[in-house]
Amino acid sequence: MIICKSPAEIEKLRRSGQVVRQVLLETKDRVRPGETTLELERFVEKRLRELGAKPASKGYRGYPWCLCTSVNNEIVHGMPSNRRLREGDIIGLDLGVIVDGYYGDSALTVPVGKISPQAEKLIRVTAESLELGIQQARYGNRLGDISFAVQQHVERNGFSVVREMVGHGIGREYHEEPQVPNFGRPGHGPVLKEGMVFTIEPMVNVGDYAMRILDDQWTAVTVDGSLSAHFEHTIAVTRNGPEVLSRLPVASGAAKTA
Ligand code: MF3
Ligand code: CO
Repeated sequence: MIICKSPAEIEKLRRSGQVVRQVLLETKDRVRPGETTLELERFVEKRLRELGAKPASKGYRGYPWCLCTSVNNEIVHGMPSNRRLREGDIIGLDLGVIVDGYYGDSALTVPVGKISPQAEKLIRVTAESLELGIQQARYGNRLGDISFAVQQHVERNGFSVVREMVGHGIGREYHEEPQVPNFGRPGHGPVLKEGMVFTIEPMVNVGDYAMRILDDQWTAVTVDGSLSAHFEHTIAVTRNGPEVLSRLPVASGAAKTA
């Protein structure tokens, strides 16, 4: 069952969305060659404490950390460690929070120093596919319209979308119905209604979409070793169109947001 949220609940989810994005952007600014992924985790832990937010991932199905740090061929759920980031790497940062009982979830992928043109294109196309998916999150549309928009943009650019991991409803639980695949057919799936809140989170590989999990039981990697990128926002379907709950307003330039 898809739980539609009241305006009061959306207000709470907005707060969670703003907190998760704020901390994620602060963390992104700390990504540089020589930094360890564990240092990023420690920073997140401290910021969440300061903001009075709880980490959503820590303890979720036994996941030990607040942050997921997925480097290069790691698709998602890479675990913080003493590994040092190197110039030319790309890193996906994925964070979930709980504020006042409501969840927020967001992710982005960033370069470590200077990266290859192909890695740059991967990051750009993945971010664009998320934006195209968001534009389809309007009441009256169907879920497949979102999935199709993401998939089409990715594949037109020669990349592939991961099949095993999907976006998800979110609210008083981290993962609710519906599932939000990054591939599908327009005009198919549940009709979108006012008050639905879910994540859209394309995971995009340079090579084949095949994925496997490492022996640590968490890290999802590309089977062919190719690079992978991940972006995620939490979105509410409103009468005025999609509202990106995890997007921060930017001070200068009315249309620009982070
Ligand atoms: N934030 C992830 C998502 O997009 C969930 C991470 S799984 C966890 O749904 F175990 F790390 F929490
Ligand atoms: Co998510």
